[in-house]
Amino acid sequence: MPGMLGKTVLITDGGGRGAALVDKYGQSKYVKKIIVVPGNDLMQINTKTQVKIFPDLKTTSISEILQICKKEKVDLADVAQDNAVEVGLTNELEKINITVVGPTREAGQIEWDKAWAREFMERNNLPSPAFKICTSEREGMDFLKKQKDSSWFIKASGLAEGKGALPARNNAEGIEKIKQLKSFGKAAQTYLIEEWLVGEEFSAFALCDGKDFIFVGCAQDHKRVNNFDQGENTGGMGCVSNPLLITDSIKKQINTIFRKTINGLIKEKRDYKGVLYLGGMVVLGKVYIIEFNARWGDPEAQVILPGIKNDLYKVSLAISNGKLNNLKIKTDHLVRVIVTAASKGYPVDYSKAKGKKIFGISEAVGIKGVSLYGAGIKRVGKDYLVNGGRVLYTVGSGKNVIEARMKAYQVMSLISIEENNLHYRTDIGWRDVERMRN
Ligand code: AMP
Ligand code: GLY
Repeated sequence: MPGMLGKTVLITDGGGRGAALVDKYGQSKYVKKIIVVPGNDLMQINTKTQVKIFPDLKTTSISEILQICKKEKVDLADVAQDNAVEVGLTNELEKINITVVGPTREAGQIEWDKAWAREFMERNNLPSPAFKICTSEREGMDFLKKQKDSSWFIKASGLAEGKGALPARNNAEGIEKIKQLKSFGKAAQTYLIEEWLVGEEFSAFALCDGKDFIFVGCAQDHKRVNNFDQGENTGGMGCVSNPLLITDSIKKQINTIFRKTINGLIKEKRDYKGVLYLGGMVVLGKVYIIEFNARWGDPEAQVILPGIKNDLYKVSLAISNGKLNNLKIKTDHLVRVIVTAASKGYPVDYSKAKGKKIFGISEAVGIKGVSLYGAGIKRVGKDYLVNGGRVLYTVGSGKNVIEARMKAYQVMSLISIEENNLHYRTDIGWRDVERMRN
């Protein structure tokens, strides 16, 4: 199809997820140029396709992004980050007739408004923890005072960079956590008090075209900053795809959840086009929804996208044109493990690491069965410098988790940050390693 060649794709993301998208679009025979807003200085590392970044823009810089689309004659935009969905970037791009992957503001409400999402789940009979929506400090405190002592999650309803869910081991702690919500400002004007579920978490991903969906894979993230799941919650310190937790029975439940969710969104005239992310928890063999996100996970995208054999440009067209039922997704069935290289101090205060030199990148690139994706990284002259909390990722692939994690850590061992400012977890994938050995 000669008319299909020479396409320009725009991606809105600055981190490792954006880098994995660049890598995959770069492999497409249809794509000639990739524009990333804001991107980072490692975006070109895995592809020969031309990559142009706009580091001074934000993913929410709507008018500038629309101008870029016109000037660069963008054929397809991939709205990959939550805050761009919330501000309605997809809606605006559709108005100027750009083909878009990524939900409208209305469909994406399933992520950016957790209170709305829980009520949606209730209306559609989707498995969730018990919850109470509150709009004042007093309302939540009065509620907790009437409950028998229990453990809870206190959650800002709006987007809070993944930090808006506060655990409370009893009612008194719950009251303290309600007071702490003030620090999230507008995002926590409405908040939720949820029953604390205990189980094992996973992330599942579906491509959705407004009516049909294809369940493309799962990953198991490690959200806490330190080994043994200790310390603060982060954006993600590493994950495994596909985790052994996902048995046939769990897959069946996930498929049912996606089907009911898509149907519910259609019923409410919020047709969903893009990647839908189910954050789930398995409690005694049953899947509960912790949250939905309106995008790929980061770092989950970096372990699932490389395993998809299809041309991503064609997949994205099918999503946007409502033609997923014509498509069969093929995967390579390899296990992938990703490890996050973070700045020491992340996620609390990594100011001491900012601007420090990163070593080992050129040695780490091009090793078979391994990929490297950049995130909080900046190039100045010949040097790569720290420019964020999560700096880069190493991904290893193999026939099982042991092989995949060995490769990811072999490459990580080549990386260091000036003055000992590198931090990474050394136990990514431990659950599946134990499951394999039992
Ligand atoms: P969220 O911001 O909703 O993604 O929540 C962040 C993390 O908090 C999740 O990945 C879970 O580990 C935990 N979490 C949130 N809600 C609950 C809940 N109701 N029960 C147990 N854990 C939860
Ligand atoms: N890795 C978790 C997220 O992307 O929200």
